[in-house]
Amino acid sequence: MHFSGRLLALFFGTMSAAPQLRRTDSSRGEFSPLKHFVVAKKKISDVFEQLLNYVKETSEFVEGGRFPESLENVATPDQKSEIQAYADKLAVIKEVLARRQMKVAFFGRTSNGKSTVINAMLRDRVLPSGIGHTTNCFLSVEGTDDDRSYLKTEGSDEEKSIKTVNQMAHALHMDESLDAGCLVRVFWPKTKCALLRDDLVLVDSPGTDVTTQLDSWIDKFCLDADVFVLVANSESTLMNTEKHFFHKVNERLSKPNIFILNNRWDASANEPEYMEDVRKQHTDRCVNFLVEELKVVDREQAPNHIFFISAKEVLNSRMQRAQGMPETGGALAEGFQERLKEFQSFERRFEECISQSAVKTKFEQHTIRAKQITEKVKSIMDDIHIEAAEKRVAALEARENQTDRLEFVKNQLNLLITEIKKKIKAISEDVESKVSIAMGEEICRLHVIVDEFHADFHPSPQVLKLYKSDLLSHVEEGMGKNLAFRCTNAVNASVQSTQKYMIESMQPLLPAAAQSQICMLVPNRTLDLSYDLNCSTLCSDFQEDIEFRFSLGWQALVHRFLGSVNAQRALKLVDQTSRSALPVAQTPSSGPPSIAAPANNEAALMSQEELMIALANNVASLTSRTSMTVIIAGGVVWKTVGWRLIALSASLYGVLYLYERLTWTTKAKERALKRQFVDYATEKLQLIVSFTSANCSHQVQQEMATTFARLCQQVDQTQKELEADIRQLTDKIDQMEKVQSRSKSLRSVQLLKSLKDLYNLFWEFSQYFMPWIISES
Ligand code: GTP
Ligand code: MG
Repeated sequence: MHFSGRLLALFFGTMSAAPQLRRTDSSRGEFSPLKHFVVAKKKISDVFEQLLNYVKETSEFVEGGRFPESLENVATPDQKSEIQAYADKLAVIKEVLARRQMKVAFFGRTSNGKSTVINAMLRDRVLPSGIGHTTNCFLSVEGTDDDRSYLKTEGSDEEKSIKTVNQMAHALHMDESLDAGCLVRVFWPKTKCALLRDDLVLVDSPGTDVTTQLDSWIDKFCLDADVFVLVANSESTLMNTEKHFFHKVNERLSKPNIFILNNRWDASANEPEYMEDVRKQHTDRCVNFLVEELKVVDREQAPNHIFFISAKEVLNSRMQRAQGMPETGGALAEGFQERLKEFQSFERRFEECISQSAVKTKFEQHTIRAKQITEKVKSIMDDIHIEAAEKRVAALEARENQTDRLEFVKNQLNLLITEIKKKIKAISEDVESKVSIAMGEEICRLHVIVDEFHADFHPSPQVLKLYKSDLLSHVEEGMGKNLAFRCTNAVNASVQSTQKYMIESMQPLLPAAAQSQICMLVPNRTLDLSYDLNCSTLCSDFQEDIEFRFSLGWQALVHRFLGSVNAQRALKLVDQTSRSALPVAQTPSSGPPSIAAPANNEAALMSQEELMIALANNVASLTSRTSMTVIIAGGVVWKTVGWRLIALSASLYGVLYLYERLTWTTKAKERALKRQFVDYATEKLQLIVSFTSANCSHQVQQEMATTFARLCQQVDQTQKELEADIRQLTDKIDQMEKVQSRSKSLRSVQLLKSLKDLYNLFWEFSQYFMPWIISES
């Protein structure tokens, strides 16, 4: 039953160092016990306000207001909806708390003076009262901050202004829609009545004897009442209708707070000799009713719930006092002061009781709920904190792994670049030498290719031109094929093995998914080396010489004696002298000779000198050769055989000439041309051996460099991905740190503050209520 003790125990377990409790002066005027309800309400509202803000803050936090992505995986949807549900629940409770009032309901038979008691407590004639059945529906009186009074009937928001109590009585009686089960709310200015300032509602009812709807009355008006006042008539005894009603209330509510007022006690002044007996009789019956029948209080405490008063007297005296007249003025019956004191004593007990009861019934459950919600939210924050810590550690580990991996990839790539560059260089050089050797061999075998060429041959210029161009393409094609045959396979094999090596060494640097795809980056094709001999351009200057030349003709002999170079010079010289002599002879007076002429002549002189030296050399060599012997022998023969030999020689010479002339056929011309071509092309091709081999080596180098660049690009991509990963992980770590610190602050600081406020609140209650309860017991 000890509200504060139970709650404190509930919240803080056993309280070891309970401070000294002190009794609060509860006399009206200075400090009304009702104020405790007001203070408690304000404090609990503040706590709920704080709690709501706190839960809203946590809700915002779990919804990811500040860290949207990071909280995605930390807070579960269940946690989010749970916190949201708490926030909603708290908002509702807050609203409910704001509307909470202390409620006292007055019941009793008609004309017992219920309305008069309420008026006496309000110190004014607020509610209509009078002889006979006056109150025909439920009337609640509560304070308003307005300075006018008004009433509101059920189901309408219209504020009906009332100036006098008669006006109200009239208004209530005129309203035909009102029946005994209706509620009319009367709003009375707080300025006029101190009692109404403290969230108190007083409910007046029609007589319990005039209705058959007791059950619906209880449902509608009694379930949230904190105190019930049974206004009985001390001139008669407790009636069954009244008892019956409270039995019903007692069935619906557990241990309702019931006060019994034996009103009209002023009547006892008329018969003072019976007063004590009557009082005792009434008291016994009332105690019996409360203790035996209803079992709502202990026998010891029961007398504290039973009072003998005269509401009419109290009201009159208070109104007179309010008007500045002496309160004992008028015809007041004997014993008024005692009855007034008893009324005041009722008021104080009532205020203490209602304030304690209302705090308990109206705030206790909510306070417990607040505690539960705070603990739940705290545990969710704990979970989030732990989850974020785990995620952060995982992210830290992952980042370390990725950083190590990045470092490894970078170092390995640098090593590989140097190594593979060397490899590419070596293979290019190898290709160069291979191609150069192969080409040298092919040049030596050029005559074979040329011999293989067959086409229509005719010495006419047109046919010759075509023949030569076909021959060139044949040579180009044949040589290309041969070179390809000699080199391509070997080159390809080494290119492919190098590429394979590249792939194998780069593969471990890539992520697993990319490793399987790496082969697709390297085209699995054989490298088609282009030798690019370009014979047609190379041999475009080729000029065949297929004129008939007698082997013993003088030109041939000059060739034989002087060698081919000197013979050509000599022949050119002869040609030149015969040509230069001619214009001088033809134009003797044609002016000074051209500047070039002396130079030409000089050159001619030089050449003549050289020619003479060559001739002398050849002649000299002739003497040392066998031909000299033949000439000497010929001279001997000549002496012996004479002209016959000359004739024979001449005829032999003629026959030989004839033979050579006849055998100088087209075939022979073709052969001569092919031979000349072979000589010419050999010379030219030799010039481009190094160029072609370098070109091939360049192709190989290019191919491998491209492949390597692609692989490097892939590794580069991997590096970038790793870097992005690391950045992302760093962000995640930062966010998890923030989530951690935020969830930590949300689980401790706010919570402690809320709990502290609650603690203070209950501490204040205990300070007030505990002494009262202790003193009563
Ligand atoms: P209903 O509203 O009709 O149920 O009656 P009620 O219980 O509200 O009684 P009400 O206050 O209207 O009082 C009925 C009559 O009794 C009035 O004329 C009052 O003046 C009178 N009355 C009330 N209290 C006292 C009292 O203490 N002493 C005397 N002598 N008369 C009282
Ligand atoms: Mg009444």
